[in-house]
Amino acid sequence: MGFTTARIAVLLSGNGSNLQAILDAISDGSLEHGRVELVVSSNNSAHGLQRARLAGIPTAVVRSRDYASREEFDAALSNVIDDHRIDLIVLAGYMSILSESFVSRYPRRIVNIHPSLIPAFAGEGFYGLKVHEAALAAGVKISGATVHYVNEVCDGGEILEQETVRIEGIDRAEDVQQRVLTHVEHVIYPRVIERLSKEIVGNRDDR
Ligand code: GRF
Repeated sequence: MGFTTARIAVLLSGNGSNLQAILDAISDGSLEHGRVELVVSSNNSAHGLQRARLAGIPTAVVRSRDYASREEFDAALSNVIDDHRIDLIVLAGYMSILSESFVSRYPRRIVNIHPSLIPAFAGEGFYGLKVHEAALAAGVKISGATVHYVNEVCDGGEILEQETVRIEGIDRAEDVQQRVLTHVEHVIYPRVIERLSKEIVGNRDDR
């Protein structure tokens, strides 16, 4: 298996429903070229950690507040990722912003999912329910999600995939969030990860 699958780390801070969708896609065989080898949380209480433990996946908690400087935090995060020989870093509800120097260590090796159609409702300050509140305030009838590479610009990396969902008639941000998660995020994220994993494995075979 080792050489035929890309080694994935999922970084999260909360519920981890996207992690679960990725694990489910691996179980049902639709994600066949990647394996989640590590889950890293930015806090001790993320429910995603429990999901990882249940699935027998190694976990780590790396909290910026435990480090004296940004550089030391970056080094700790890089160390755990490099120790597990990770090919692809998947951000799934990860609430810390990665520094420019960290991001530059892993070019085209970090992806994120954002719960809107970038460039709408994206960038600094647009996270969690705030994204969906802004969509409701703007009165949009369609929202969706975007999977993109992570670069040094917040929500600014190359777009890999987008999918829409109608939100007309929904008036609570929590309900929009749920609809975007279940109709779009949990569908497109495993699909993109499979595509990227397949590419990684293919490039490895070419050597
Ligand atoms: C998702 O809406 C994702 O787009 C955003 O954070 C949320 C994480 O949800 N980046 P979950 O923890 O995967 O359930």
